[in-house]
Amino acid sequence: MNLTLKIWRQNDAADAGRLVDYPVEGITEDMSFLEMLDVLNEQLQARGEEPVAFDSDCREGICGMCSLMINGEAHGPEVTTTCQLHMRSFKDGETITIEPWRASAFPIIRDLVVDRSAFDRIIQAGGYISVNTGAAPEANNIQVPKVAADRAFDTATCIGCGACAAACPNASAMLFLGAKVTHLGELPQGQAERSPRVVNMLNQHDAEGFGGCTNIGECATACPKEIPLDVISQLNKDFRTAKKYAG
Ligand code: SF4
Ligand code: FES
Repeated sequence: MNLTLKIWRQNDAADAGRLVDYPVEGITEDMSFLEMLDVLNEQLQARGEEPVAFDSDCREGICGMCSLMINGEAHGPEVTTTCQLHMRSFKDGETITIEPWRASAFPIIRDLVVDRSAFDRIIQAGGYISVNTGAAPEANNIQVPKVAADRAFDTATCIGCGACAAACPNASAMLFLGAKVTHLGELPQGQAERSPRVVNMLNQHDAEGFGGCTNIGECATACPKEIPLDVISQLNKDFRTAKKYAG
């Protein structure tokens, strides 16, 4: 496949940035989207041009590092991460527009790389349980209903990629927040800090500059881990309960 890529280039946060056209040749349908960018960078370097900066780590869909708007969609046209998107989803001769995540709470560092440390600070505000580590307890000492265990597991699959906020017209990260609050709130170990957790995480979410949820649903459509929209209902319910007990 031969493609034309329209790629956002930006030297640093102070640079205005612009889309630049690049032809790329010799792409096969079995390559991942990031391997296609690796090929582009090899071709750029061979011509003495600056390679395009983009994030990746595991390239297996588990770390949440890869983060690209592809033809206006977070992670592109499939329900998967950018690293697990393959070039068979595109056609020979196609023009593909590649931009960084869109959300002011994710400032651009360079080209397609954004700073997602806002998510780390939201987790630090309450996305944990306070227990002393030590030997693992007997698994059956604390019984968990199957339905709760399944929901905790399913919502714990959030990889913190940020696609939900990037896809949302309000740049709201409430799907991410809802996933974190729900997976801890379903389990007995998560109850002691349940109320301060939701208040502190939501306050941090707002302080970082993420917007409010207006039930548009783009987040759940973009999520590569298919986190359901109803975690935001759970988040709101926990928040109301926390406020009630706080007076
Ligand atoms: S909820 Fe989905 S889209 Fe949002 S950070 Fe988690 S995995 Fe990514
Ligand atoms: S590089 Fe780890 S999820 Fe894509």
